[in-house]
Amino acid sequence: MRFLITGGAGFLGSHLTDAMLGQGHEVTILDVASDLKVRHQLGNPQFRYVRDSILNREILEGLISWCDVVYHLAAVVGVEHYVGDPYQVLNVNVNGIQAVLQVAFKAQKKVVFSSTSEVYGKSSVVPFREEGDRVLGSTKIDRWCYSTSKAVGEHFCFAFHKLGLPVVVIRYFNVYGPRLDQMDVGRVITIFLGQVLRGEPVTVVGDGKQTRCFTYVDDAIRATVSAGLKEEAVGEIINIGSDEEICIKDLAAVMVRLSGSRSSLTFVPQEAVYGKSYEDIRRRVPDIRRMREILDVSPQVKLEEGLRRTIDWFRSPS
Ligand SMILES: NC(=O)c1ccc[n+]([C@@H]2O[C@H](COP(=O)([O-])OP(=O)(O)OC[C@H]3O[C@@H](n4cnc5c(N)ncnc54)[C@H](O)[C@@H]3O)[C@@H](O)[C@H]2O)c1
Repeated sequence: MRFLITGGAGFLGSHLTDAMLGQGHEVTILDVASDLKVRHQLGNPQFRYVRDSILNREILEGLISWCDVVYHLAAVVGVEHYVGDPYQVLNVNVNGIQAVLQVAFKAQKKVVFSSTSEVYGKSSVVPFREEGDRVLGSTKIDRWCYSTSKAVGEHFCFAFHKLGLPVVVIRYFNVYGPRLDQMDVGRVITIFLGQVLRGEPVTVVGDGKQTRCFTYVDDAIRATVSAGLKEEAVGEIINIGSDEEICIKDLAAVMVRLSGSRSSLTFVPQEAVYGKSYEDIRRRVPDIRRMREILDVSPQVKLEEGLRRTIDWFRSPS
């Protein structure tokens, strides 16, 4: 089969590319980023990298008519963007999925949309079930723009589904692994990694009691592949995650221990990092019954094992 993966040069997109090529499929990726994370595939005749924006309609039309299924992963991601550049988050995320769906609808191609656990916002009803309520703060608080942009994307998906387009919405929960972000930037694991590997104090934001369920990339990718191939997934929202819950200060301590670092933990007030209006989410736990039942995928890599692999990779990237 032929797959178009938007955002294919990013963390998840590059792993999805490897998985699809590994299964003998053809893959084209559309991304504005450098080829750093897909460089190892550049000589593969089944692989093509188109370096352009998803907002380039002409390119998008050509690529969607070529493929069988579109995986739409391109997005502006990361807390620093939600609070620092909300315009880009809204522009790329909302207009990107809309463009993909419009073109896919004309060509009648299936779309898998990568949404996020952020959609649930600060709901306290854990575990988060796909049909559960979304609880968000004021639109004056920039951090909600990413959650909102993805929720709008989901609404667009179901509007097109009503018109007859096959769509699948997947919501990722804190996926990590090799090729995540650069050390020291991006998401919590890469920020901690830089500090841990240099033996510097690990800066835990807030009291560190907020919890997350981290998903190892291989598990997330098996579920993603399945979402694009299983007929039963069409028209559904499916959480992709693990139910192994850990609080952030324990995550920091585990990373220090696994890497044999001498780092200590230090706590910094949330306002100092993300500004006064930032609101954190206290517990984030997915209900993964649909992932198990519809996608036939269960998380297999325990957090300590996944962290060990991730630390090893960042020590000597390959
Ligand atoms: N990794 C996670 O834990 C996680 C959690 C929830 C949701 N997601 C979603 O999964 C998808 C992939 O996330 P990721 O972790 O790989 O992030 P990532 O930032 O590594 O990948 C996103 C990619 O989109 C590309 N992109 C941005 N603007 C673009 C544009 N205008 N045109 C083309 N490409 C553009 C970026 O260059 C990047 O390569 C995103 O949609 C994200 O919202 C990821």
